[in-house]
Amino acid sequence: MKILVTGGAGYIGSHMVRTLGEKGHDVVILDNLCTGFRESVLYGRLVVADLADRAMLDELFLSEKFDAVAHFAAYIVVDESVREPAKYYRNNFVNALNLIEACIGHGVDKFIFSSTAAVYGIPNRVPVAEESLLLPINPYGASKCMVEQVLHDVSRSGRLRHVALRYFNVAGADPLVRLGQRSKDATHLITVSLRTAIGMRKELSIFGTDYDTPDGTCIRDYIHIDDLIHAHMLALEHLSGGGASRVFNCGYGHGYSVREVVQMVKQITGIDFPVREVDRRDGDPPALVADSLSISKELGWKPIHDDLAYIIKTAWEWEKKLHGKR
Ligand code: UFG
Repeated sequence: MKILVTGGAGYIGSHMVRTLGEKGHDVVILDNLCTGFRESVLYGRLVVADLADRAMLDELFLSEKFDAVAHFAAYIVVDESVREPAKYYRNNFVNALNLIEACIGHGVDKFIFSSTAAVYGIPNRVPVAEESLLLPINPYGASKCMVEQVLHDVSRSGRLRHVALRYFNVAGADPLVRLGQRSKDATHLITVSLRTAIGMRKELSIFGTDYDTPDGTCIRDYIHIDDLIHAHMLALEHLSGGGASRVFNCGYGHGYSVREVVQMVKQITGIDFPVREVDRRDGDPPALVADSLSISKELGWKPIHDDLAYIIKTAWEWEKKLHGKR
């Protein structure tokens, strides 16, 4: 198939491009490189352009006959979205709408969308299932929720079919250490912890120790990037086989606290770095754990890396390679 991957030079998109390329698909990557890296594109043809550019999209869709689109390009930093909401609505919502309109206009009828557990806000029950209320508590989650709504409505009109995957906490790296989280100012717990271990940061802050959880820190469902990519491949097969539009959670169904993750990072790296307990970070739900039964049942998704040690080990190998230390 010929597949357009937006954000294919970023963390998750680049792993998708790798897998599509390995499986022999023809891949075109659209990325403005604002947070992505040219070197992360292992297969296909990279077009450096911005989704805000409708004329460019029309030209691209005219010159390449795409069978499907996988849309990863987005801003992802929750607290930045609180400070700069318009930036998030423009890039995550308006630009996604441009892409969806290009699909409709050019008859591309298969669409895979990177959504997020942030659409749930603070769920009143965990594990949280897809039918739960969507009450995002920050502009990041709201912007993704709005795109889901558009896709739902466009699907109902019969113009395309989509699968929206609601990611929980994606972490880890390519086992062959070719790809991983690259951005300099990463905010994710595992990356920040590893960078503290490597000496790039003085200490790790634990944001809040007074949550209503067993050890007082937040609980998250950490999922290895390759299991997540496998979910995308199954979604692509589902749509190619004529499957209907669907929304699925992607997580393992159990979580780890911040303290447990930090402990595991220290164990894997063998480095005891300084940790400081500070106030809660705005917009953090106490616990976010996926009920992923639907994707397992309907697409046959069987994760194979449900192991925090493995997730951290692959991320650690990547950090060492990226920063050339230890
Ligand atoms: N945390 C710390 N210190 C840090 C970084 C994070 O204590 O330096 C804590 C956070 O407060 C949170 C947990 O570690 O409790 C995980 O935080 P991350 O920033 O790694 O991830 P989030 O759960 O905030 O967000 C991630 C994605 C979002 C997605 C969300 C859904 O970044 O895009 O998961 O679960 F929406």
